[in-house]
Amino acid sequence: MKILGISASCRKWGNTDILVHHALKGASSEGAEIRFLRLTDLDIRQCTGCFSCLAKEVDCVQPDQFPEVLAAMRWADGVVLGSPVYTLCAAGSVQKMIPRFFRPNYTGEFEGKPGLALVATGGKGFDGLARPQVSLFFLFAGMPVIDQIVGYGQGPGEVFYHEEACQAALRGGEAMARGETEFQGEPGICPSCHFNLVETRQDGGAHCVLCDLPGRWVSSAEATRFEPDPDEESRFSPGWMRQHFERDVLTSLERFRARAKDIRERVKRLQESGTYQP
Ligand SMILES: Cc1cc2nc3c(=O)[nH]c(=O)nc-3n(C[C@H](O)[C@H](O)[C@H](O)COP(=O)(O)O)c2cc1C
Repeated sequence: MKILGISASCRKWGNTDILVHHALKGASSEGAEIRFLRLTDLDIRQCTGCFSCLAKEVDCVQPDQFPEVLAAMRWADGVVLGSPVYTLCAAGSVQKMIPRFFRPNYTGEFEGKPGLALVATGGKGFDGLARPQVSLFFLFAGMPVIDQIVGYGQGPGEVFYHEEACQAALRGGEAMARGETEFQGEPGICPSCHFNLVETRQDGGAHCVLCDLPGRWVSSAEATRFEPDPDEESRFSPGWMRQHFERDVLTSLERFRARAKDIRERVKRLQESGTYQP
């Protein structure tokens, strides 16, 4: 087994690095070969939205160090991704990386490889959207998430004192090295992504915001729970992403080409109507 750890923090040996290294230590103790990569040591630019990867069927064409991440992902049998929490969100380096996997998400190249999501926060209850954002990296790629762990610690290294999180990361790494792919964290409301991001729509129906899984709220004397519609599936179900790319994204390229000349003319008219000219 080969396990890749990715840290999205700028702070070397800060809390994210430490959590990721606990996972790698766990993987190594089960005999796995390990590798560690710091996203912030690499020049990884934002996706430019050029669509070349889909239209020309090639890896991302931007001349930066993204190919190093892609090669490491191809090498790995399982991946640990850790991020610090900034203003309730994952670090910008995570947000820059995820869209760069547009084509692999379409081809399903990494489908089935397990992923472990880790976030380092300053305080309990302040992780906000960060965990779902890190997990989305795996969900989009069709990679089963085995756990999504939060470690607390404000100063670099203070996460050592959140022993429960360090131990959970260690166990996640061990499980990954044993080839386990089942989710082993806290089950959330949504049975697909295990997050509690189910929203109530105006018609009273319920919907997982991440998975797009529709359902309803069912109340009993003990609790109220989300019951997904049995005929619907999560947008992260196997094959769904490929179908989405073929049905919605690739067809949009053809539609855009047919409209391109008209759009250019409309832009010209808008510019001539007195908008700001850079
Ligand atoms: C600009 C900034 C914003 C932050 N926002 C949050 C936040 O919203 N929630 C939180 O729990 N911690 C927040 N923190 C604290 C970091 O998440 C925390 O220090 C974390 O352990 C950093 O991980 P690192 O050591 O791997 O860099 C913030 C820190 C900075 C610098």
